[in-house]
Amino acid sequence: MEFVKFCKIEELDKKNFITKSIFGKKIAVFKENDNSFFASEVGCKHQGADLTKGKKEGDFYTCQRHGWKYNIKSGECINQKSSKLRKFLIRIEGDFIKISLDTID
Ligand code: FES
Repeated sequence: MEFVKFCKIEELDKKNFITKSIFGKKIAVFKENDNSFFASEVGCKHQGADLTKGKKEGDFYTCQRHGWKYNIKSGECINQKSSKLRKFLIRIEGDFIKISLDTID
């Protein structure tokens, strides 16, 4: 399994997430309150809007375009059960957060 550099850990010191486009996919790494991290696809499964620009309520983000709602940690879409966000494995190496583009599920 190959991991690619996503960002420096310190980039998340003052942010809860960082979003990047990798191979045409919008992916974000989120920092939890316990300083752990997880990575998720954040392009809406409907028409691709960036979910991190939508309304946040706890672990849920609502897409700003047409209102589809997702649990960003599980990837579950409340409106369309078959439209689950991809999750990505994370590895910490030195000062960097790396992600695998092989999905967890
Ligand atoms: S693009 Fe997200 S609900 Fe339509």
